[in-house]
Amino acid sequence: MTAQHQLVLAFETSCDETAAALVADGTMVRSSVVATQTARHAPFGGVVPEVASRAHVELLDEVLVQALGEAGATLADVDVFAAAHGPGLSGALLVGVSAAKALALALERPYVGVHHHEAHMCAARLEAPDLAPPFVTLVVSGGHTLIAHTTAPGRHEVLGQTVDDAAGEAFDKVARLLGLGYPGGPAIDELAGRVAADAVRFTPPMLDDGLDFSFSGLKTAVLRHHREHPDRPVADVAAGFQRAVVQVLVTKLMRAAAATGAPTVVIGGGVAANSALRAAVVEAADAAGLRAVVPSRALCTDNAAMVAVAAHERLALDGPTPLDDGVYPNLPLSTLNP
Ligand code: KG4
Ligand code: ZN
Repeated sequence: MTAQHQLVLAFETSCDETAAALVADGTMVRSSVVATQTARHAPFGGVVPEVASRAHVELLDEVLVQALGEAGATLADVDVFAAAHGPGLSGALLVGVSAAKALALALERPYVGVHHHEAHMCAARLEAPDLAPPFVTLVVSGGHTLIAHTTAPGRHEVLGQTVDDAAGEAFDKVARLLGLGYPGGPAIDELAGRVAADAVRFTPPMLDDGLDFSFSGLKTAVLRHHREHPDRPVADVAAGFQRAVVQVLVTKLMRAAAATGAPTVVIGGGVAANSALRAAVVEAADAAGLRAVVPSRALCTDNAAMVAVAAHERLALDGPTPLDDGVYPNLPLSTLNP
């Protein structure tokens, strides 16, 4: 194995997607398979951890076989086995991590445990291979919302993060209270796209206030509005909510770019699949003369290709992860910069 011809097989099982991917040289996706568990969790209105763990166990084998088949590879061709080891649901993380470690042990290859948010930040590189530090990334997922300044490969300074709910969590909770079902982000995105965003207005939370985020007050404001005006079209309320979220996310991303002088802004995580956010980031970056890197939607939501890219970089920076390493349900991004 050389760093130039390194085939990484990665698993992603931190929440409700069971995914496996093979990526060559940290840049070339040979296959990326994602089995979503949405239908299993939808009756409960959200992800049920125990259901997620069991579903990962059931689905992992077939996802692995499909990923190898699509890549035209066998396990013997794999140079490195990797998995997202945190943050996420502990029982869910254990499935991907245990599989990666077992394969690494059996085939005598290195194992690399990957930070899920760093993986989201690495997704952009698959379509923009020239992306190099310094840049600022907005990571907006169901579990977290943060802005990081990447100053060198693998070195991320967290500039701001949510003080309560994650942006995706807010999308999901607002969708539930508006009766739009689960998962809420895509439902609000689709509905809001059909109407003008300003029929119902909400104040973007903490807009003028540094680089941290808060979404729980906005969720309460939407709930109050919905109770007080039950006749207002749900689409107008959803559009107003989405507009407030997008405005605050983009304002802070651009503020972070201005504060650091970074010439490039990047987005990642499930909420980065949002149509309004994607358009607003490109527009704001254009206006400021910055480069915007907006990965395709399938690379924004959870997938294993992004885990493989992060593993390729982490192996070069830190070496393999010991096989007695565990999973980390709560894992601040700052642990990557000791
Ligand atoms: O990154 P991700 O796939 O999983 C986590 O790491 O959490 O993000 C999932 C989140 C969910 O909250 C989902 O509602 C949200 O991303 N999401 C969206 C869209 N697609 C997924 N939010 C807004 N608009 C979308 N199009
Ligand atoms: Zn994620």
